[in-house]
Amino acid sequence: MVLTDDQKAMLEGRYGEGAAYAMKIQVGIGECFDAPRMVPIKRAHVALSNQAGDLWFAEKLVKAGAKCRVAPTVNPGFCLSWFCGKWPHPVDEEDYKHMQRTDNAYRTLGAVLSYNCTPYIATNVPNFGEVCAFSESSATPYVNAVWGARSNRESANSALCAAITGCVPEYGLLLDENRKGNIIVHVEADMKTPYEYHLLGMMGDLIGEGIPVFTGLPKVIPPEALRNLGAQLNTSGAYGMYHIVGFTPEAPTLEAALGGNKPIREVVIKDKDLQDFAEKFSDENPGGKVDFAMFGCPHFTLEEAMYIAHKIEGKKLAIPMYILVSSHAVQMAERMGVSKVLADAGADLIPDTCPDQPVWHYLIGKTGVTESPKCAYYPRRRGIRFILRDLDTCIEAAMTGEVK
Ligand code: F3S
Repeated sequence: MVLTDDQKAMLEGRYGEGAAYAMKIQVGIGECFDAPRMVPIKRAHVALSNQAGDLWFAEKLVKAGAKCRVAPTVNPGFCLSWFCGKWPHPVDEEDYKHMQRTDNAYRTLGAVLSYNCTPYIATNVPNFGEVCAFSESSATPYVNAVWGARSNRESANSALCAAITGCVPEYGLLLDENRKGNIIVHVEADMKTPYEYHLLGMMGDLIGEGIPVFTGLPKVIPPEALRNLGAQLNTSGAYGMYHIVGFTPEAPTLEAALGGNKPIREVVIKDKDLQDFAEKFSDENPGGKVDFAMFGCPHFTLEEAMYIAHKIEGKKLAIPMYILVSSHAVQMAERMGVSKVLADAGADLIPDTCPDQPVWHYLIGKTGVTESPKCAYYPRRRGIRFILRDLDTCIEAAMTGEVK
């Protein structure tokens, strides 16, 4: 790899041990992918997980004196003040210390402590063609496909290294030739709400490996639907990029999306494929009594919180409802009176928090209802069961305590 004088100096330790360590990792990644050089970035998102490996790496960089040149936004852990405000509060001493250490490490490194996994919708939005370093399942395909920015599917660690060094190795999705689609996915299903995009994203087995080019989708697709599509594509498979013909910026036509190449595969997705997935999921978790409802994996937008508030205003929920959002959405909801409407009905709007965190241990053995397959997928490993339904059915279930 050819490095600039400044990059060489960083690798040799002129900017300290931490920066040298980060640069060494990135040069190693670049060499694995035959990257010819490093290119500068002005934007990054780190999918911190608040889990042991992630914390070990962040603290190692802190001890080595690393500081971010580019302040990255970060993923959720869990909101200490919200959970400790509950009585009796469910936070183990060990989990409390862990979250505090994560908070301290990323503060010291100079990250933006956003604790939100959908920064690409409002707080960390790249320009068309901008090179950046985004980790997180829904974030990388969103910045590549929807904004036309350029990011590889970074890990939390490589994105943090990029934030520290201010550059990334030039390979993969940073290059024109690797951004072209090679699988045509004809969507013949009725894509009414963001829920159907969750299900479409779970079709990774049908779509297979490559860059999908979706045809047949509506002309206008809301950000929540695109967020869901990317999140689930990376739950059912591994996709850093996709195209939607006539909608995403690098796909004005099918030919442009394919870059003049022949597709390696064509796939048709019908209503039945989406229904089969939802039914199979429901076979594993048949309907009936539920103990709680959870939304916001990925984090819900303010508009989605407003939608739920509108639906439950003046009513009382039969079971707890947890709505996970950004701290910005919480602030706006408080100013607008949306939080009060939700709270009066018995719903909680929670910032900074992911369902895949140990703090939810008090839900182990219980059954929740959610509209997100990803929300159901990860907490299952922790012993929390979920039933999957569309959002309106989930809201209805929260009012009766039962899924029909
Ligand atoms: Fe976000 Fe956590 Fe779900 S990071 S997408 S809320 S698993």
